[in-house]
Amino acid sequence: MQAGELRKRYLEFFRDRDHAVVPSAPLVPKDPTLLFTSAGMVQFKDVLWGRTPPSIPRATTCQKCFRTTDIENVGRTAFHNTFFEMLGNFSFGDYFKEGAIRLAWEFLVGELGVPEDRLSVSVYLDDDEAFTLWRDSIGGPEDRITRLGAEHNWWGPVGDSGPCGPDSEIFFDTGADRACGPDCAGVGCDCNRYSEIWNLVFMEFDAREDGTLAPLGRKNIDTGMGLERTSAVLQGVETVFETDLFRPIVEA
Ligand code: ALA
Repeated sequence: MQAGELRKRYLEFFRDRDHAVVPSAPLVPKDPTLLFTSAGMVQFKDVLWGRTPPSIPRATTCQKCFRTTDIENVGRTAFHNTFFEMLGNFSFGDYFKEGAIRLAWEFLVGELGVPEDRLSVSVYLDDDEAFTLWRDSIGGPEDRITRLGAEHNWWGPVGDSGPCGPDSEIFFDTGADRACGPDCAGVGCDCNRYSEIWNLVFMEFDAREDGTLAPLGRKNIDTGMGLERTSAVLQGVETVFETDLFRPIVEA
């Protein structure tokens, strides 16, 4: 499947499930605490934070992103870009963990036909609810659900303060032969075996500048699927640079 088709199918899938299709925001956001738009949630930060009331309960976007924090990985791994497009679905106080997990699975497996046995997930260390949902509602085998710490499974805030929370990442297994070695740490490893294709963030905390966390008034969902990485999965290529998004540039 070409990337353009994936972009279209994602937005249509969520539009058909009551999400408003919102255009990509500019790469330079209005937010004075951020230099660039680094994620789909940036244009919704104040709504997710509870500072602006939501005008819609659900949204979906394909957001152009610039992520300087990944720059050291670009060219070293098969999957990192500085500029990329993030497909996302958002719930502003509407569905939460169960809805986000179900929708993601339905899209990946039901709509795109990604083989279930090539998918693994991670959850935040003590997030028993997410663990249980993956195991019991989705039926994922326990050995493909990994609990990882905050460096992997906590997202946000963008800037010094803002909405944040534990997350759950979905990985595609590109094959045991691509692991870094016999001691590979699996989905927690940065080698080329597991491609993190989708991050589901359960935004329920307000990270304050003094370092404390307070519960948000509304629990929200913020997700981000990598257009380039998922295109690589669907096109059966080993790196994002071999997808139809990059091939013409590389060939030129
Ligand atoms: N905001 C989350 C991320 O960028 C979805 O990974």
